Amino acid sequence: MSRIPLMAGNWKMNLDHLEATATVQRLHWALQDANFDYDKVEVAVLAPFTDLRSIQTITDADNMSIRYGAQDVSVHPDGAYTGEISARMLAKLSCSYVVVGHSERRQYHGETDMEVGEKALAALGGGMVPIICVGEALGIRKAGEHVAYTLAQIDAVFSELGPELAPRAVVAYEPIWAIGTGEVATPADAQEVCGAIRERLAELYGRETAETIRVLYGGSVKSANVAAIMAEPDVDGGLVGGASLDPEEFARICRFGEHVA
Ligand code: 13P
Repeated sequence: MSRIPLMAGNWKMNLDHLEATATVQRLHWALQDANFDYDKVEVAVLAPFTDLRSIQTITDADNMSIRYGAQDVSVHPDGAYTGEISARMLAKLSCSYVVVGHSERRQYHGETDMEVGEKALAALGGGMVPIICVGEALGIRKAGEHVAYTLAQIDAVFSELGPELAPRAVVAYEPIWAIGTGEVATPADAQEVCGAIRERLAELYGRETAETIRVLYGGSVKSANVAAIMAEPDVDGGLVGGASLDPEEFARICRFGEHVA
């Protein structure tokens, strides 16, 4: 069963709505110039909340195939939760994706696996696809416990989702030591954990379903290293941070299929 790769740019807390509009436009042009085939690789940007309305407007107006989404969502449907954004609000802006459980939110906002699972459920309930982030810190990797640690995160987050909704999720394996450090995991490192994640998904939901779930790698992905990572059998795309802020570089990453691995 073939999985369509997903290249998703996580802008984090960068780019205001004017910069977002210009960045999406430049990404669109760069891909258009290259006759990019969006049926072969899905492209998405994951933007700050304040950018989403502008991105919706420009992608609609220019009939772009670039998808977009948010970087977080409330577990609550509505109500007295000052500062939070609901899944319904994001769905209304035609978001396709929502990042949940990014290591920066786990670290700075104390998000637990249970909360991450609830956020994934909220996104799915709104008809969007959660990109569920998992991955270990350096100490855990050095202790050789990275696979067990990451699979425990998978078990805990997916236990919040029913068997019907769970297979609609995307998983992103992001080893924390590779995020923003320039230290990219080797393709074999990425495959080891992404493959183990797929095996666990097969145990949970059956082999056929596990073969349809996309597992991304994130952490210092660039045009220079993406092709080798994407050549691994269980890596179905990238969650790209810093390099996605440069639309021409992100377009080169999306065109990984044209590079020599
Ligand atoms: P970098 O690509 O900047 O390492 O960030 C990865 C990341 O955290 C994407 O979510």
